[in-house]
Amino acid sequence: MLGPVILAASRSDRMRRLISAAPVTKQVVDRFIPGETVDDIVPIIGELTGRGLELTMDVVGEDITTPEQATAARDAYLLLIDRLKDLELGPKVEMSVKLSMFGQALPGGHELALANVRPVVEAAAAIGTTVTLDAEDHTTLDSMFAIHEELRKDFPQTGCVIQAYLFRTEADARRLAASGSRVRLVKGAYKEPAEVAYQNKHEIDKAYVRILRTLMEGDGYPMIGSHDPRLISVAQELARTAGRKLDEYEFQMLYGIRSDEHLRLAAEGHRMRVYTAYGTDWYGYFMRRLAEKPANLRFFLRSMVSK
Ligand code: FDA
Repeated sequence: MLGPVILAASRSDRMRRLISAAPVTKQVVDRFIPGETVDDIVPIIGELTGRGLELTMDVVGEDITTPEQATAARDAYLLLIDRLKDLELGPKVEMSVKLSMFGQALPGGHELALANVRPVVEAAAAIGTTVTLDAEDHTTLDSMFAIHEELRKDFPQTGCVIQAYLFRTEADARRLAASGSRVRLVKGAYKEPAEVAYQNKHEIDKAYVRILRTLMEGDGYPMIGSHDPRLISVAQELARTAGRKLDEYEFQMLYGIRSDEHLRLAAEGHRMRVYTAYGTDWYGYFMRRLAEKPANLRFFLRSMVSK
């Protein structure tokens, strides 16, 4: 029952101020968000890729309120891509972006987000890599999919995320699989109403398997975004049945969660991509990680009390 409460707090400015100011927060945050600046993150990129992992980079931030913040978000990604150029890692390090950080919720937001994300996709392509559009709450998805389709006209490798908890996703998966897209499938991390989303873990897991089968049997490139050991075994089985080779799909997990499993899958020859977030506006991302596992919240609260 704690998850929905934490997700509600993730949208509260008062909680944001309280939690961000707590002196011990940083140590707990570091587990999931290992740096604040591009200078912090570049050595971590080197270390993780050196261990055989691939990465998708997220400059944390979402729900911005001015066009200037959207431009700053675009520039933060461009700065990172510029630094990646010298590392020559190509598709081993791609970008994940949240369109709400690029202005999607502002007046004229659809066009603004497209205008801000396009240069990031272009810059990524120029260094031989790609961008994946994260999925946020369900009200943003029609715009996200339209932007994805628009970007794919020039950059067919642009990916997007679909969320198994939404009723709409089975239809989205069929459309995307037929169009040959790169698609990351996740369970879904936002607080969604019963009118649009399964609320029960078992139902979500069953939907995940159905959708993954569609992606595996389709023409696109499935990206399995989950830490769930059962779903990872199911994914391996579905890939085998669909006749996919090891480089025709990939696993993705979040930095700081089941890190041994990242290395184990990579050592088995799987393509394993770690979603690595950095930056200062970490509140929303951090709160979703707490909501996914209440033990994280207990650890966080204990560390506050013991100081
Ligand atoms: P589940 O929650 O059942 O977890 C399985 C096991 O993993 C747990 O038992 C635990 O051991 C471990 N675990 C999971 N979460 C943990 C946590 N926070 N802390 C510690 N251990 C944890 N969502 C979204 O709505 N839009 C998006 O764009 C993305 N993008 C994205 C990218 C990638 C690469 C991943 C892996 C996930 C996302 N998500 C996301 C988040 C996703 O929707 C989901 O909330 C989390 O992945 C947790 O679900 P699992 O599939 O891991 O299963």
